[in-house]
Amino acid sequence: MGVPAVIAVLAVLLALPARGLENGLARTPPMGWLAWERFRCNVNCREEPRQCISEMLFMEMADRLAEDGWRELGYKYVSIDDCWAAKQRDAEGRLVPDPERFPRGIKALADYVHARGLKLGIYGDLGILTCQGYPGTTLDRIGQDARTFAEWGVDMLKLDGCYSSGKEQAQGYPEMARALNATGRPIIYSCSWPAYQGGLPPKVNYTLLGEICNLWRNYDDIQDSWDSVLSIVDWFFTNQDVLQLAAGPGHWNDPDMLIIGNFGLSYEQSRSQMALWTIMAAPLLMSTDLRTILPSAKEILQNRLMIQINQDPLGIQGRRIIKEKSHIEVFLRPLSQAASALVFFSRRTDMPFRYTTSLAKLGFPEGAVYEVQDVYSGKITGGLKTGDNFTVIINPSGVVMWYLRPKALLVQQQPRGGASRLPLL
Ligand code: GLA
Repeated sequence: MGVPAVIAVLAVLLALPARGLENGLARTPPMGWLAWERFRCNVNCREEPRQCISEMLFMEMADRLAEDGWRELGYKYVSIDDCWAAKQRDAEGRLVPDPERFPRGIKALADYVHARGLKLGIYGDLGILTCQGYPGTTLDRIGQDARTFAEWGVDMLKLDGCYSSGKEQAQGYPEMARALNATGRPIIYSCSWPAYQGGLPPKVNYTLLGEICNLWRNYDDIQDSWDSVLSIVDWFFTNQDVLQLAAGPGHWNDPDMLIIGNFGLSYEQSRSQMALWTIMAAPLLMSTDLRTILPSAKEILQNRLMIQINQDPLGIQGRRIIKEKSHIEVFLRPLSQAASALVFFSRRTDMPFRYTTSLAKLGFPEGAVYEVQDVYSGKITGGLKTGDNFTVIINPSGVVMWYLRPKALLVQQQPRGGASRLPLL
């Protein structure tokens, strides 16, 4: 084909209506670090130079992600949240970073992050102002801001929705998806739109969201407390029939950041947040100080099997399958190769609870044998049959988490009734 023919074919292809976002990104839930929950809108760099929203904070987090084993595990995005911008756009109407806190500019920060094998996320807001009062992206600015982010080398955009009407959001969120696509730069698109619509149909159209956004915030902001984690867990699992179907490769529900490593969660509660976010196929966006994180928190966040489960290529969001009167709840996430993850969660406040059940009671197919690995202790138990009773000991506000792989099917073969094993894997 000659050059003019190629151009003609391209022209036809480009003229076809685009189906969905189709940016090929976030085939598994995005992983990385996001400033907001831990560092908020601290712009007091004079008194707190290492705690304020400045290029130094993001450079130091990039160093930690690259040097402390995070990047290799998949934690690749270093993401800026609100309060990075100067209060005024420049003469051409472009967004500019605060000159004192980001003296080298966002492009230089992106270069720094990319040189470490990482990616840069940024925050915008569809509306007159961001939630903290910095310049927002009004409808007429969408194309310009998308191009600015792409020119800077940004790899992910979180688009918030403060100070805009429902009508503007309905126009603006899809328009930003098109504008990002039009830049030609692969940019993960995180939409806060459903959180501003109450998170549920009929107001939220999850089919449309899946076509325009790679992830979306459905619900309230996480705070540094166990109450906050529980309210998020309650909302997501109460609405699991709707939400489970909305998630899949390229498009994820986002229950908000991991607060592990901060001040509000105990050790058990930290393990619970990690396990439940993994069951939800949630993005793993840490918001903690990676320069000072304790080894116990780091170990939870760097659990390999946990991350493997979170990143399972099937991308099926899990569900709560049982709520016991004893305040034990059981969650199940189906995984590739017929594997699954189970979380046994205790809402009790007394003492470690002995919970006895069987895979049959949890709805697993009859006649199978499983190899079980405890995700936190690493202990492997071979040969658990569907009908076998077993007991897990679950600490108050803690979890036991299992990874299960079917090893064999028990089928009745001989007339004498002897069962024989058929290998599955
Ligand atoms: C909203 C978002 C938060 C954070 C703040 C920043 O509340 O939901 O995640 O981005 O705005 O102002």
